[in-house]
Amino acid sequence: MKKEQKFEIQGGRELRGEIKVNGAKNSALKVLASVVLTEEEIEITNFPFIEDTKRMLELLENLGAEIETDEKNKTIKIKPKEIKDGNLRGELVKKLRASILLVGPLLARFGKVNMIYPGGCVIGKRPIDIFLDGFQKFGSKVEWSDEGFKITSRQKRLIGTTIFFPKITVTGTEAMMMTAVLAEGKTVLKNCAMEPEIKILANYLNENGAKIQGAGTPTMIIEGVEKISAGNFSVVPDRIETGTFVIMGLLCKSEIIVKNCVPDHLGAVLPILKKAGANLEIGEDYIKVKKGTALKATSISTHEYPGFATDLQPPYTLLMTQAEGMSLIHETIFEGRLFFTDQLNSMGTAIVMCDPHRVVISGPTGLYGKTLTSPDLRAGITLVLAGMIAFGKTTIENVYQIDRGYENIDERLNSLGADIKRV
Ligand code: EPZ
Repeated sequence: MKKEQKFEIQGGRELRGEIKVNGAKNSALKVLASVVLTEEEIEITNFPFIEDTKRMLELLENLGAEIETDEKNKTIKIKPKEIKDGNLRGELVKKLRASILLVGPLLARFGKVNMIYPGGCVIGKRPIDIFLDGFQKFGSKVEWSDEGFKITSRQKRLIGTTIFFPKITVTGTEAMMMTAVLAEGKTVLKNCAMEPEIKILANYLNENGAKIQGAGTPTMIIEGVEKISAGNFSVVPDRIETGTFVIMGLLCKSEIIVKNCVPDHLGAVLPILKKAGANLEIGEDYIKVKKGTALKATSISTHEYPGFATDLQPPYTLLMTQAEGMSLIHETIFEGRLFFTDQLNSMGTAIVMCDPHRVVISGPTGLYGKTLTSPDLRAGITLVLAGMIAFGKTTIENVYQIDRGYENIDERLNSLGADIKRV
């Protein structure tokens, strides 16, 4: 493990120029999990080389996959032919909650999976009950031990089933969709998540022989097939990076262009930013942030797609500390995703926590540079943005959390005029 790195940020710099959005972490991680469903080679372009995707590649290598990476061209090729069993052991699983996504495909292919409990972030307890209930409904047995669990299919092939999700879960939806692809017969999934990356994954699997209907809507019907092949997958631009950079432009009262993005994938975020007074020019594949009047405090509730994305709540919460008036931020998805606000208050903001799901913000307030610790990746990037608008110097520790989801973020923001040193 390389020595703990830190960011040292000098605030108050105006930004200018354009920043390209990278491939989406939360799409790349899922197509990597789908690799296990077939023996065929896949080529992935516009691949984001970030800590989370590197961990997932290491997990696939540990299972026996052969991987060729070409970081310069953002491309990887994976030959999964040598994957022979579903033993997901070791520290890697603890580092990456998304490793749970491998379980369904491994179970569908090999009929047996051994796994230790996956890690989580600090944003909430991150249970996996919906996954384990789902695997049992496909006709498998789950045996728990204190450090993990073993899942065994009761018959040669998993059997298609009907699953009504008790909560809308993004990876739960993706995991059950992938498991159903090779199960025998029909699977119906109800109360599905509708994030864009789910439909993108379903389209890719259908191009290679799967029979998935209704992805992107609350109800999916999957006809199981014997096997599927693999092909080329280009990772869609990251909607959370896009939203983060737009909010950064507004925070720094700068004119920047966020390029290579899909504005449509931001759902309710852009209309809400406009309602708060943001002066945005929205193109086909770019968003131009223009200077404008001071923002007005605008309350939000996070919501599953296409509502206001919980992953953009932390940057938006910071933005509201710079808006005029009082706003309520209601984080409905995770119970641990507002605790970073105490670090913002140490910089001079006025945020009152009503309960773990709600804070009330009064603004605008000036921020002063501090030494902070990044709790999770979305709060981490928010602390970087806070340092960029704070008076003086801000030091952020534990930048691994930020590197999990934002590739070369210091270099990319410095190219816009920020002053961030990685030490
Ligand atoms: C995905 O996490 C994303 N991660 C998260 O992004 C994102 O914040 C989240 O969806 C919500 O949009 C990836 O796609 C890899 P959930 P996921 O299952 O699927 C409960 C980031 O910053 N739940 O949709 O793990 C859960 O506790 C990350 O990139 C159960 O109760 O989130 C939560 O309250 C953070 N039991 C709710 O569902 C389960 O078995 C929604 O979580 C599973 C989930």
